[in-house]
Amino acid sequence: MKVDGTLRVPGDKSISHRALMFAALGNGRSRVRGILDSADVRSTAGVLRALGVDVPQLADTIDVRGVGLHGLREPSDALDCGNSGTTTRLMAGVVSGSAIDATFIGDASLSRRPMKRIAKPLEAMGAKFEFARGDGLPMTVRGAPLHGLEWRSETASAQVKSAILLAALTASVGATVHEPARSRDHTERMLAARGVKVASDDTTVRVAPVAHLEPLDTLVPGDPSSAAFVAALAALATSGSVVLRDVCVNETRAGFFDVLRAMGASIEELERSDEGGEPVATLRVTPGALRAIHVGEAQIPSMIDEVTLLACVAAYAEGETVVEGAAELRVKESDRIAVVVDNLRRIGADADELPDGLRVRGARRRLRGRVTTHGDHRIAMAFGVLGAIEGNEIEVDDPECVAVSYPAFWADLRRLVTA
Ligand code: S3P
Repeated sequence: MKVDGTLRVPGDKSISHRALMFAALGNGRSRVRGILDSADVRSTAGVLRALGVDVPQLADTIDVRGVGLHGLREPSDALDCGNSGTTTRLMAGVVSGSAIDATFIGDASLSRRPMKRIAKPLEAMGAKFEFARGDGLPMTVRGAPLHGLEWRSETASAQVKSAILLAALTASVGATVHEPARSRDHTERMLAARGVKVASDDTTVRVAPVAHLEPLDTLVPGDPSSAAFVAALAALATSGSVVLRDVCVNETRAGFFDVLRAMGASIEELERSDEGGEPVATLRVTPGALRAIHVGEAQIPSMIDEVTLLACVAAYAEGETVVEGAAELRVKESDRIAVVVDNLRRIGADADELPDGLRVRGARRRLRGRVTTHGDHRIAMAFGVLGAIEGNEIEVDDPECVAVSYPAFWADLRRLVTA
């Protein structure tokens, strides 16, 4: 397989969700440019509309007139979060601090994902949660006047951390969150840019109470989690290179690029700048002879959404790749450890599960068969990359599920593969 081309991947999903939420909570108009128009971000837009915010149809440039920190109104129907964990968990924080009641619902995958991890700290702040069954959705949140909180999170999760910070923001109280390892820090960066006092060291974040939030324009950089698929494609090619423009290279997100470099691919940084408080770079990715790698717990948070892709790349890296400390993958859009290993085996690769990770033994072999995505966008794209390799014949059962985060994925893949 040869690759060639330049690409600007779509806007970062995490920053897009937050840009809409902060615009909605600002005291005035905020402009968002480069927002990701995907199913997940549409879920956030829909939830904000149901709470009384006039969010226009998503487009490259949109203006949102914020209702202020205390201006959301109680919804008349359940809030449908589709497939989006970020929408659910972050908006549960917003609703908790807004002293309104709302019921959150979602698709079958989202309904199975754990929500008590946010209910516990938000209840400790004074909100009430009701679960119709177990730990998932439907979930009813009863907001209340909250008090400040100092919380030790059991998991390194930006969604848990952000739910607490957003509840504190909307309730005009302070909060401190300690994490076992540092998770992505977009919420903290965006709060600080809007005038909120944020103090963070490695694994602790503290926010001060504010009475209102300044509106601010956001330019959303390219999503490193989408760029990762293209980088993997280029790394696995026989020749050529791909240039990725405007990729967010925030160190809490860039772990996969470091791992791919350590495996033997070349990833050059051609230009670096700062966009809206986030480091952004243009990257050129060139293939290399790939070697296996060992990834441990400390590296997982900065590549949490890329581990399935790493498992697929490892099928072509010389030696045995081992990933450990990644039990969180079992509660993502699918059980990503079980699903990626099962699919790798089905198409003829040599892989097995660990309780908190996986092992893949690489070989130069043809991979053939049908992949079951379980509706998980990142599974579809990871196997899409393997399917582009010459001689492989891989059918993905649900290619449309990429609409969750990267609707143009298949078109971009076709454009970059030149032979
Ligand atoms: C996200 C945080 C991560 C990540 C998800 C997006 C966010 O989840 O997997 O795709 O935008 O905060 P966790 O915080 O649960 O690890």
